[in-house]
Amino acid sequence: MSSKVYQLTMPKKIRFGVGALETLSGELSNLGTKTALVITDAGVNKAGLIEPIKEQLDKAEVTATVFTGAEPEPTLSKLDIIADEYRKKRFDILLGVGGGSSIDTAKGLSVLMTHGGRGVDYLGIDKVPGPCIPVIAIPTTAGTGSEATNIAIFGDTDRQLKLAIVSPYVFARLALVDPALTYGCPANVTAASGLDALVHAIECYTGKKANTVTDALALEAISLVSGSLRTAVADGSNEMARNHMSEAAMLGGIMIVNSGVTAVHALAYPLGARFHVPHGVANALLLPHVMEQNFCSDLDKFATIARTMGEETDGLSLREAAMKAIVAVKELSGDVGVPQRLRDIDVPQEALEDMAVATMDVTRLMSNNPKELSLDDVRAIWKAAW
Ligand SMILES: [Fe+2]
Repeated sequence: MSSKVYQLTMPKKIRFGVGALETLSGELSNLGTKTALVITDAGVNKAGLIEPIKEQLDKAEVTATVFTGAEPEPTLSKLDIIADEYRKKRFDILLGVGGGSSIDTAKGLSVLMTHGGRGVDYLGIDKVPGPCIPVIAIPTTAGTGSEATNIAIFGDTDRQLKLAIVSPYVFARLALVDPALTYGCPANVTAASGLDALVHAIECYTGKKANTVTDALALEAISLVSGSLRTAVADGSNEMARNHMSEAAMLGGIMIVNSGVTAVHALAYPLGARFHVPHGVANALLLPHVMEQNFCSDLDKFATIARTMGEETDGLSLREAAMKAIVAVKELSGDVGVPQRLRDIDVPQEALEDMAVATMDVTRLMSNNPKELSLDDVRAIWKAAW
C-alpha cells in the first residue's frame, strides 16, 4: 500500500487485442462520423496498413481524407503547416495511425483545428481551453504508448528542444490497439520502440510519483518486454511476442499519465531535438547510465526490476541485486542491436555540455526523477553515455 496521496486518471477507452481494428466501423457509426482525416506516414501507408482502415471507413460510410506526410519526431512548425492545410475543412474525427509521431500529430492537429492558433500556444500543462475534435489512435508500433496518454510531444527546431502539450483534452477518444498492425514492423523499429516501452515502465516504477497502481502495471510491462522483445526483434512473425509488446506499450501509456517518466526522457529530448536520434534509440542508449545514478535511491525497487527481467539475485547483497537491473537492461538493448554509445551515432563530444544544460531545463520530468540530479550528475551521465 502506498502511504502517499495519489490520483488516477484513465484514458477514455482502449480496446486491445488482435481483431480490435474490425470494431472501427461500428465505433465510427456510433460517433455519428461522416468525415474523417487519417494522419499517417509514408512508411505505414506503403506497408499497406491504411487499407484495412479504409475498409472500415467505407463500411461506416465515412468520407475520408488521408494525409501521409506525418514526420518522425514531429516539429511544431510542421504541425502548424498541416493545421493550416486542413483547418478550412470540417472533419468529425481525426485518426492517428502509426507510431507515436503520427498519433501525436493527430492530437496536436485536433487542438489547432478546434481552437486555432499555433502549436506553441498550447505547450505546457493545461493550456488547451476545451474539448477538441475527437482522435482515434491506432498504433502500428509497440512503444510510445501515445495511444493512451494525455500528452503530445513536438520538437521546436529553433530552440532545439522537445516540448509537450499536456491536457486531458488530448486523450484519444478511443485507442484501438490491434497487435496485428505491428506484425510487419521492421526489426530496428521494433527494437527501439520496444525499449522505449521498457524505459516507460522503469521510469514510472522508480519515479517519485509512482503509486500502487502504476507499480503493478510497470512490473507487468517490464516482464512482458524482457520476455518478448528479443523474440519480436529476431522473429517478427511471432504473434505472441508481438502481442505482448503491444500490451506492454499500452500499459506504458497508462503509467505515464499516472506516474510519469524521469531523467532518461529528459536527456532524450535534447538528443532527439538536436541530432534527430529516434526517440527509442535515445532512451535505450541513455537508460543504463541514468540507472547508475538512480539505483541507490531505491535498492529494493531496482532489485525487483532485476528479478522481473530474469536476473538471478539469490545470495547477492541488496545493492548487488539492484545493480543487476543495469546489467539486464544493457544486455537486452545489446541483444536487440540498438546503438550503445553516443559516439556510435555521430554525436560529437563537444555537444555534451549544451545538452547537459538543456536537460536541466526539462523540469517537468527531472522533478519526477527518484534522485535529485545536479548539473554535474547530468554531465556525468552524458559523459558515460558518450
Ligand atoms: Fe518515450
